[in-house]
Amino acid sequence: MKLFPIILAAGQGTRMNSALPKVLHPIGGKPMLQHVIDRCKQLKADKLAVIYGHGGEQVRARINDDGIHWVEQAEQKGTGHAVAQAVHLMDDDDCIVIAYGDVPLIKSKTLQALADSLQQNDLTILTTVLDNPKGYGRIVREAGRVACIVEEKDADDTIKQITEVNSGFIAAKGGDLKRWLQALQPENAQGEYYLTDCVGMAVAENKRVDTLICENPNEVEGVNNREQQAKLERVYQQQQAKTLMENGTSLLDPNRIDIRGNLTVGKDVIIDVNAVFIGDVKLGDNVVIHPNCVIQDSVIGSNVTIYPNSVLEQAKVADNCSIGPFARLRPGADLQKQAKVGNFVEIKKSQIGEGSKVSHLSYIGDTEMGKNVNIGAGTITCNYDGVNKHLTQIGDNAFIGSCTQLVAPVSVGNYATIGAGSTITKDAPAEQLTLARAKQISRSGWQRPTKNEE
Ligand code: UD1
Ligand code: CA
Repeated sequence: MKLFPIILAAGQGTRMNSALPKVLHPIGGKPMLQHVIDRCKQLKADKLAVIYGHGGEQVRARINDDGIHWVEQAEQKGTGHAVAQAVHLMDDDDCIVIAYGDVPLIKSKTLQALADSLQQNDLTILTTVLDNPKGYGRIVREAGRVACIVEEKDADDTIKQITEVNSGFIAAKGGDLKRWLQALQPENAQGEYYLTDCVGMAVAENKRVDTLICENPNEVEGVNNREQQAKLERVYQQQQAKTLMENGTSLLDPNRIDIRGNLTVGKDVIIDVNAVFIGDVKLGDNVVIHPNCVIQDSVIGSNVTIYPNSVLEQAKVADNCSIGPFARLRPGADLQKQAKVGNFVEIKKSQIGEGSKVSHLSYIGDTEMGKNVNIGAGTITCNYDGVNKHLTQIGDNAFIGSCTQLVAPVSVGNYATIGAGSTITKDAPAEQLTLARAKQISRSGWQRPTKNEE
């Protein structure tokens, strides 16, 4: 039997109240649909289809789609109608697993169990038991055996009491599904072709219909509105926090970390509250991250400390560096070993050499800095002439006095010293003191202005 997951993602998601198609709304920074696709791909499926419709172009543009059969459902006439769009891809002995693009936390282990259940069953429904089953299709049983599924909108008060609900995920063979889908009628409160009506048909044919009960309801909870999205976001973040801690990371508060992408962590890392990791972030061993840091697409070496309120994006930080508090590393910031970037310092597309220090109130952009350089407080590189960006080069062991402006393109030699307050427009030679500022004068007999009388 070939495994063929089909993901339903054509619905509009009216209750999200959004211009973005529902399945593109993110959990952990990744579209819900992509979560489901990634889990289906882990199954090593033989083929994979996504039924798309509402916001189709946006959906196809935003989803990484290698190996996906995209099947359009131009009009959304219900879940059964959606699956019916893919019948041309189904072989009779395919093991079809229907997944939902708006149920992002499903685990591939569960999908696999659903698929494996077809060795005993003809149709398996993934169900769960909810304290508040409102809105879901209810599993109606007779003498303990599944009889049918009744949607909330078609349910009477007795059925509404049932707490076992349809997750939406089902498994069945291609041949059976094709027959059932053809026979669906939109005779229900919503006038839709319900996939769930296949269950009653299977029972009528004396097929083996059973349920697989999902122990963790979060895994099969759907997102229909932003409140549910926010809830599943927290669940997802808590799962990631738990995994991090299991792998040896200390979290000062596991409820106050957000990972929106892939975080790879070395041993004995300590992460204080309100850290946000975006995209691909790697942390070496013994990294300490103080409160309120945002780190995006960056690689951080071992024994690095990032002090509070620092923001890093596309930065490379080697071992034993110190960053912040209140530092901003922008794309192309490249800190070599033991470099220090202190408070209110912005670094863009610049290499900060081994052991060099930019400790206070600086902007360093488009710069190649050597080793053991000291940049005085308030120093800036004037890298932009209004049209083009230019390079600043600073040699090993240079000392740049406070509040220097380095007007690029310009270079400062090894062991050069720049006097405080200089505006450097020409290359400063190695080992010399360079000063570029008006000479200090003092006037005796000078009087302060007095206030005019009116
Ligand atoms: C559906 C189930 C319900 C189950 C619930 C679980 C049916 C009739 N009902 O109800 O038993 O408890 O999910 O979350 O199946 N979709 C399409 N095309 C359509 C309609 C929907 O692709 O024409 C997609 C949606 O994008 C979504 C999924 O199918 O991913 C479910 O659709 P939705 O309208 O949310 O179904 P529910 O009313 O929640
Ligand atoms: Ca739904």
